[in-house]
Amino acid sequence: MLRRSSFLSLALVLGSGVLTLASLARAEVELSIFTGVALSQDSDLDLHQTGGTDLTFHDVSFEGRDFETPPYYGARGLWFTSDDSHWGFGAEFFHMKMYAKMGDTVRVTVKFAPTSPGSYNTRVQIGSTCDTLAVTAVATSPFTVSYATQIQPIYNNRCISCHSLNGNGGLDLRASVSHANTINVLSPVYGAIRVIPGDPDNSLLYGKITGNPEFGGLMPPTGGILNAVQRQLFRTWILEGAQNN
Ligand code: HEC
Repeated sequence: MLRRSSFLSLALVLGSGVLTLASLARAEVELSIFTGVALSQDSDLDLHQTGGTDLTFHDVSFEGRDFETPPYYGARGLWFTSDDSHWGFGAEFFHMKMYAKMGDTVRVTVKFAPTSPGSYNTRVQIGSTCDTLAVTAVATSPFTVSYATQIQPIYNNRCISCHSLNGNGGLDLRASVSHANTINVLSPVYGAIRVIPGDPDNSLLYGKITGNPEFGGLMPPTGGILNAVQRQLFRTWILEGAQNN
């Protein structure tokens, strides 16, 4: 896809015939065919590829190869309603082509937009005559809170004494099951969802650790409430989509 595309074409009118047809009440018809050269300013060339790798070739030069088959050619027809009229109708058809100049060295920007974190190796190959470019990219996690190392340890220290197998409120917060038991799971007691990804304020579990009176008593009920840092971790984790990361 061309981002900027302004072409200048210089046309040389080769044959021009003026045809006056009496039956058209002195209307005037003019037909011409032409050839010429097409010039273009340098443009950026964007290549969008599947898999999230986009390439931009900067300031690519173009050439028309106007006299190679098929050449640059065109035809134009004009029709004036009467021979003293300054106004008429016209239609024009022309064939023009533009090739990126071979052999030029240009700057290339590679944009890599993976959808999940991890390490990726990808190859970029442009046409059969260009070298293959190998690209290695590491996509880091966009999440700042880790469920396994920051949320689950809080459950382990402060919750599972009461929330284990057949735990209080029907809630088991042990490591292997805590995520599945909370994300989008309805509380049998409160008719509210325990954790709604992206929505801490309507999540029962967040309400219970921050003291939202809609959701009954504050958790944990013994040993003091979670500190501000821990509560913020829960809030951020839920806002980041309550990942199981
Ligand atoms: C000392 C025992 C105890 C501890 C420790 C405890 N809880 Fe609870 N929890 C309960 C009891 C009892 C209930 C049921 C009564 C209620 O809903 O308040 C409950 C209910 C809940 C519920 C509601 C479950 C539902 O679906 O209705 C959530 C959520 C919860 N606790 C979260 C936690 C979290 C998170 C922790 C740790 C930060 C925690 N609890 C620590 C005793 C405890």
